[in-house]
Amino acid sequence: MQDLKQQLEELQQAFNQTLPEAKNSQDVEAIRIRFMGKKGLLTGILRGMGQLSAEERPVVGQLANVIRAEMENGLKERAEQLQEAEQTARLQAERLDVTRPGTAFTAGSKHPLTQVVDEICSIFIGLGYSIAEGPEIEYDRNNFELLRLPANHPARDEQDTFYVTPSILLRTQTSPVQIRVMQQQPPPIKIVCPGKVYRSDTPDATHSPIFHQVEGLVVDEGVTMGDLVGSLQLFARKLFGEQTQIRLRPHHFPFTEPSCEVDLSCWTCGGTGCRTCKGEGWIEVLGAGMVHPEVLENCGIDSDRYSGFAFGIGVERTAMGRYGINDIRTFFENDLRFLKQFS
Ligand code: PHE
Repeated sequence: MQDLKQQLEELQQAFNQTLPEAKNSQDVEAIRIRFMGKKGLLTGILRGMGQLSAEERPVVGQLANVIRAEMENGLKERAEQLQEAEQTARLQAERLDVTRPGTAFTAGSKHPLTQVVDEICSIFIGLGYSIAEGPEIEYDRNNFELLRLPANHPARDEQDTFYVTPSILLRTQTSPVQIRVMQQQPPPIKIVCPGKVYRSDTPDATHSPIFHQVEGLVVDEGVTMGDLVGSLQLFARKLFGEQTQIRLRPHHFPFTEPSCEVDLSCWTCGGTGCRTCKGEGWIEVLGAGMVHPEVLENCGIDSDRYSGFAFGIGVERTAMGRYGINDIRTFFENDLRFLKQFS
């Protein structure tokens, strides 16, 4: 009997030494099988009980039970410990740091001309205008004829363009959209029309065969030159700041009468004269005037009842002034080093 008791105690010792070596639940299971499995060490020892007397058997049996219970507890505890450690390790490994800065994705940005067009349009939308659009490939009739620029009119020289056919061309101005809008809708009309225009100019620092305009047109009863001046004054202040002044110089456009060119007080020097305005104090930004009665009549609008004003803003010129750009070609070269400065 002493022999068996000693074996049991040695078994427990061995077990207690081995258990902490278990590194994971598989190890724990292997230890369980080795010590307590059907063919395990404990069973092996208990097999010797057959030789014990009836009095000895319960004594050894009780010790064996205590040891078995302790070993079971030990296994359970160790298994739990390891599970917890495994879980912590897994959580640690799978941890997401939600505060980590994300990977920025590269988005493009609007072209500086688009930015200026958007800004101009939103100012006029704020004044109650709607946006109108027309095609870049236009009829001679809309681009010239109906705007009182008949064939052989000298003003056509300034606006030589690219012809698709003798009667279809790339529009030289956004003014043909005036014709399209007036032909399609009765007054009151209050629109701005942004778009590309073309002229067969040789590119240099201030000329480009393609550029942008924003056309404006207001037609209603009793519209006067005073309304034009007020609207443009508001526009200039919104775009270039409250201190901005406008100046009207008499000019000639065949489709407006009277006509004027409109300068803004220089946004760099405020009017005293500097490099931006070439010492003038003023910068020409747009052409404007009262819509010629014949143009209204060309579109079926009664010129005795209605009057209107129109203006055409040069977008490149405005953007160049705004951003201090001195070569118009930079807008069209697609050089990212230039474009990225406006993102
Ligand atoms: N279309 C003219 C130009 O391109 C500008 C303009 C528009 C003038 C509207 C008067 C009225 O020069």
